[in-house]
Amino acid sequence: MSDLPSETFSVIQKLDGYSGVSEGPTVVDASEYLTDGMLPISKPGRGQVLIKLRMASVNPSDLHFIKGEYGQPREKGMAAGFEGCGDVVAAGDGAEHLLGQRVAFVTTGAWSEYCVTMALMCIPLHPSVKDEDGAAQIVNPLTAVGMVDIAEKNGDCFVISAAASQLGKLMLGLAKDKGLKTICLVRRVNVAPALKELGATVVLDVTSKDFEKQFSAASREHKPRVFLDAVTDSISEKVFTLMPNRSRWVSYGKLNPELFPMTQMGQLIFQSKVIEGFWLTPWMQANSAEMPHFAKEVQTRFADGTWKTDVTTYLPLRDVVSRLAKATRVKDGKIMITP
Ligand SMILES: NC(=O)c1ccc[n+]([C@@H]2O[C@H](COP(=O)([O-])OP(=O)(O)OC[C@H]3O[C@@H](n4cnc5c(N)ncnc54)[C@H](OP(=O)(O)O)[C@@H]3O)[C@@H](O)[C@H]2O)c1
Repeated sequence: MSDLPSETFSVIQKLDGYSGVSEGPTVVDASEYLTDGMLPISKPGRGQVLIKLRMASVNPSDLHFIKGEYGQPREKGMAAGFEGCGDVVAAGDGAEHLLGQRVAFVTTGAWSEYCVTMALMCIPLHPSVKDEDGAAQIVNPLTAVGMVDIAEKNGDCFVISAAASQLGKLMLGLAKDKGLKTICLVRRVNVAPALKELGATVVLDVTSKDFEKQFSAASREHKPRVFLDAVTDSISEKVFTLMPNRSRWVSYGKLNPELFPMTQMGQLIFQSKVIEGFWLTPWMQANSAEMPHFAKEVQTRFADGTWKTDVTTYLPLRDVVSRLAKATRVKDGKIMITP
């Protein structure tokens, strides 16, 4: 540690705890939630590593988090950001094997020149994997693996909302390789050709006037049993009610902050339908024995080009507070934060 700096430039949370409201991952002015400055660099403890950042991705979960509406409370004065890619520059006892390696990692505080995380939260990267893919290699890809596994165990067709999201596109590639059909829901019809190219069976625009009629026809034809839903709004509820008996509605995101009525609760009783949630953190804990296998599968897909991370904006750490809000309005890819 002696030749390393004692402080790191970081993007820092301004607020504590939960906001008590659920507004969705839109940010009008990041300076409401974030500031920047120097934080002390802590020495990695047992099983921990210190990482020098190459790139950090901005996921919807980061935006929900800084706004105080995620599954863990904010901590005023601590760095923001959950996921990135960087070089291990110091290691605590039991983590020495990672010293000098380029890794994909998750932590709380990735939007920082240096951050500490557990060695268990790091995946060493093959030289052929780009930093962009390394910085987005855990949150969305492992979620895609977990959710497509749920779909596969429940039939040969599933429904995906926000299908043009980065995660949606990863799931489409996996579904195609497993021979599963997909009914993709989007709100911009211009993304349909790209989704078809990735293997989508049907692409439907939820804003079209006869969407319900189109979905009913697709549902009758393909009989999807699982709805993987990142939006979770009144359209989702309608979609669920139009799906066959024994369908499962798996909500894994709340992109639309709308509060909506549940109009057909009887379907849970009389049609054996189920509503549930998915969160990567407990799923990884429950499947910890299989994680090395899943991590290898994910990295192979990035290394051979089967999967790729679309990037809209490279945002230097020092510009995050002033430019993050505008950057989130650019569609079809990730913002990458650079040191
Ligand atoms: N539960 C978990 O463990 C877990 C893990 C990873 C990700 N996620 C969730 O997965 C979702 C996708 O993540 P990502 O990184 O792939 O996001 P992303 O690439 O930023 O894509 C967001 C997508 O959502 C669409 N969208 C945004 N607001 C919407 C709304 N109100 N109604 C309908 N569509 C809307 C956007 O459509 P336009 O392009 O038309 O704007 C875009 O296609 C997020 O909700 C995220 O929180 C959950």
